[in-house]
Amino acid sequence: MTTVVLEKIWKEYGDQIVLENIDLTIESGSFVALVGPSGCGKTTLLKMLLGEERPTSGRILLDGMPLKPEPDWDRGVVFQRYSVFPHLTVLGNVLVGREFEKSRVLGRLFGINRAAAIDDARALLNAVGLSDHENKYPAALSGGMQQRLALAQALMRKPKVLLLDEPFGALDPGIRAEVHALMNELWVEQGITVVMVTHDLSEAFRLGTRVIALERRRNRPEEKERYGATIAHDIAVWPPKTQKKKQNGSALVEEAPPLIAADVSAAVH
Ligand SMILES: Nc1ncnc2c1ncn2[C@@H]1O[C@H](COP(=O)(O)OP(=O)(O)OP(=O)(O)O)[C@@H](O)[C@H]1O
Ligand SMILES: [Mg+2]
Repeated sequence: MTTVVLEKIWKEYGDQIVLENIDLTIESGSFVALVGPSGCGKTTLLKMLLGEERPTSGRILLDGMPLKPEPDWDRGVVFQRYSVFPHLTVLGNVLVGREFEKSRVLGRLFGINRAAAIDDARALLNAVGLSDHENKYPAALSGGMQQRLALAQALMRKPKVLLLDEPFGALDPGIRAEVHALMNELWVEQGITVVMVTHDLSEAFRLGTRVIALERRRNRPEEKERYGATIAHDIAVWPPKTQKKKQNGSALVEEAPPLIAADVSAAVH
């Protein structure tokens, strides 16, 4: 179980202050949805959690320990565009996470390790509904299937924190609803902490236990470079969702409460 703490985080690129004074504690097992206008620094915040970018000041703690300065296996990541490898089969794409982790020099698994990894990969492919496609290549999958594969690949690393940057933005509405239900189930079953950037407020409220809106409060043109975005709203989603499974084993995806979503929409845009 993993708690992430951001302490007084500032991020600047040259003269531009992107984020200012972000203080945030993400409880273990929560599902944080991060919203805010384009360019306000959502991806930048995610990259800092991944270790791909360093804060200009402030610090990030993972279970009380400072974040390692490079991306590692504590954090799995899925970006909006499918992050799967086109030259590997579906099964190969899921295995690759484990291969890099276990043997960084060779990048291959052997013997018992490989057999166990294949079992784990097949269980994940089953969980994301791709069992019948393990020998296909990504080009032969639909967008929704590729994104489900990317989720399985990220989960194979058993990340403490799963980072998602608009992972469902490119999907058709019908498929998106399916992937939402799957995402909710995976969150319940794997007991992970998730931070997801999204432009879609109903998605934020449907999946998140908490919705955080970033906003640049001072937005006059002459202020844009000198002030960054910070946390403008921090909303606990009601009714609360938990990672305990329902009695029938399925995790229910709650509908977004429309009034609150509308309030935040007004605040964010
Ligand atoms: N490597 C970089 N060098 C310089 N500036 C950068 C860099 N990365 C991001 N920025 C700037 O930081 C700001 C925030 O970018 P970021 O990608 O985090 O926004 P975002 O909230 O994810 O936007 P969107 O919703 O459009 O994805 C932008 O003004 C961007 O130009
Ligand atoms: Mg972005």
